Parts: sequence; C-alpha cells; structure tokens
Amino acid sequence: MTMLTLHSSPLQGFTDFRFRNAFQKFFGGIDQYIAPYIRLKGNLEIKAANKRDILPENNQALDLVPQIITKDADAFLFVADHIQRLGYKELNWNLGCPYPMVAKRGMGSGLLKSPDTIDEILNRVSSESDICLSIKMRLGYENSQEIFGVLPVLERYPLTNITIHPRIGKQLYKGEVDLETFERCLGQSSHKIFYNGDITSVQRFREMKDRFPGISHWMIGRGLIADPFLPAMIKADNSVYPENRYEVFNTFHDLLFSSYEEALSGPKHLLMKMYSFWEYFIHSFPSSPKGLRKIRKAQSVGAYREAVRQLINKESKWKLD
Ligand SMILES: Cc1cc2nc3c(=O)[nH]c(=O)nc-3n(C[C@H](O)[C@H](O)[C@H](O)COP(=O)(O)O)c2cc1C
Repeated sequence: MTMLTLHSSPLQGFTDFRFRNAFQKFFGGIDQYIAPYIRLKGNLEIKAANKRDILPENNQALDLVPQIITKDADAFLFVADHIQRLGYKELNWNLGCPYPMVAKRGMGSGLLKSPDTIDEILNRVSSESDICLSIKMRLGYENSQEIFGVLPVLERYPLTNITIHPRIGKQLYKGEVDLETFERCLGQSSHKIFYNGDITSVQRFREMKDRFPGISHWMIGRGLIADPFLPAMIKADNSVYPENRYEVFNTFHDLLFSSYEEALSGPKHLLMKMYSFWEYFIHSFPSSPKGLRKIRKAQSVGAYREAVRQLINKESKWKLD
C-alpha cells in the first residue's frame, strides 16, 4: 500500500513562514508545504517578502516547495536558479490561480487555454535547468475541457507530480468541485496526481478516499486553517480532538499573534491580519455565531484579546483568565 501524504496548499496572505512554523510546531500531520507563489513584476527581481518566506533558516522544521506564477520562461529560469542556490530541488508552477487580474494576463488558470505556450515554457525550462518541476492546476479558466488540451503536453515532461483542484477559474471558489472531470483526468495522465479541494473534515476526506482509492496524495488549503487539527486527525483516521484542543489552539494563536506583531507595523495592520485568519478559525467555534463580528470590531489589541478570550471560554471547558 502506498503511504498517504498530506500537503499544505499555498494560500497567499496566510500560509507564509510564520504561519507554517507555528502550525508545524503545534499540529503537524503535514508532510510537505507549498509556499505561496512568487511573481516577478516585469524585471528579474524577487520581492524581499518572497525571498524571506523561502529562506531555509525560516523553514528549518519543515519540507517546503517554492511556487512560481508566470508565463515567461526567463522569469521561470531566474526563479529556478534562485531557489536552487538556496538548496531547493523542486519548483511548483501555478496554473490554477483564478483571480481575473492574474488570469486575464494569461497566468495561473488563464494559461490553461494555451497548451502550446505551456509546452514552450516547459521545453525551455527543462532544457536549460535541471530543477524538478511540479504543477498545481485547475480544470480550465473558461471551461473544464481546457485541461484535456494540457495533459497530453504534460505527458512529455518528467514532472514530480500534478495537483488538480477540480474547479474552473471563472468559478473562483463557488460551486461544487467537479469530481467526474477529475476522474477523467486520472485516465489521461501517467503522472502522480494529487487531489486538492474542499477537504474540510475527516468525513469528507474518507468520502474522497473511497471515491478515488488510487490517490495517495492530498492537498489541503482552507480546511487546515479552519481546523488546524484536521491533518493529524486524517492521518490518525479518526475525528477525535485532543482533550486540550482549545488550550493548544490558544497557544498556537498566541505564537501566530506575536510573530505578526513582530513583523507588522502598528496594531491596525496586526488586527487586520488576525481578522483574516479568524474568517477561517471561526469554523472551530460553532458556539459563537457572532464571534467573528466581535473580532472585526476590536479597535485595540486589548479589545481583540478580550474577544478571543470570550470565544475560547465559550467553546471549551478549559478557561482563560
Ligand atoms: C486566499 C487564498 C490564497 C491562495 N493563494 C494561492 C497561491 O499562492 N498558490 C496556489 O497555488 N493556490 C493558492 N490558492 C488556492 C489554494 O491553494 C487551493 O488550491 C484552494 O483553496 C482549494 O483548496 P482548499 O479547498 O483545500 O482550500 C489560494 C486560495 C485562497 C483562498
């Protein structure tokens, strides 16, 4: 039997090295993390924040694969060289990003309608670099048939794996994942395929595993932030939380808070950042339907801390003072 592996899906603005380290320290269950994408803005220069995010010293306790979004072979080669110098062996190519500002420029899922361009880029990158490549993609941008023009191209290259999130770009995150088309893709590729999309509970994972018994590699994005215990529970094949669930969450939250406090200038930015996490965390607090509003309204660090304290105390037998 092949071993089950779980991969942390990149979420720009969320799964940076501060989140990854805090997550890894308290929850685990993740075999490999994909970093949010690097995008070059016109010239061959990587933004300082992207550089910092993938520095080996900022990612010591975890297995990380950097990601690029581009439609330009020179940019691709430049980033491949940069990460190889840092010791990375693999670069993941984002062919999935749905946001119109990206897709309309022919990047992310916007490139899926152009298999010839994908071919040209892969051709150049694989002949001029020995970096290992993996791909993360959707089914298409306009329609779910686009992927069937791309998979035959990908057959010509020795990719480490292909992750498929079975939605189209136009959908953004709305509607259901298209499992029938995902299944058809499996018959059209000899690559190792990872499944990604809407794994939010152990129950949902089991259903997916039953439906796709041949898949051993799974990528989890939003579900992991909404319930950081999920990967470890999937690995243990049970839905049992540790008894000190909210105590662990609280310590994790404090570490996350202090690492952003160190990085961001001023409480306003810090509270905005934490609020964006709470849009996901709130799923772990079903007893407080109005809890998110209190977090959003908090104007000071003190008010924020009080809102978090109330949420935790309402959910858990374990109490914060
Ligand atoms: C806020 C946000 C940021 C994202 N950033 C990236 C990214 O940088 N690279 C990428 O490949 N996918 C990105 N994604 C897509 C996720 O990695 C993932 O494919 C998608 O959320 C579906 O998986 P999930 O249902 O497990 O979350 C992002 C998604 C969201 C919601």
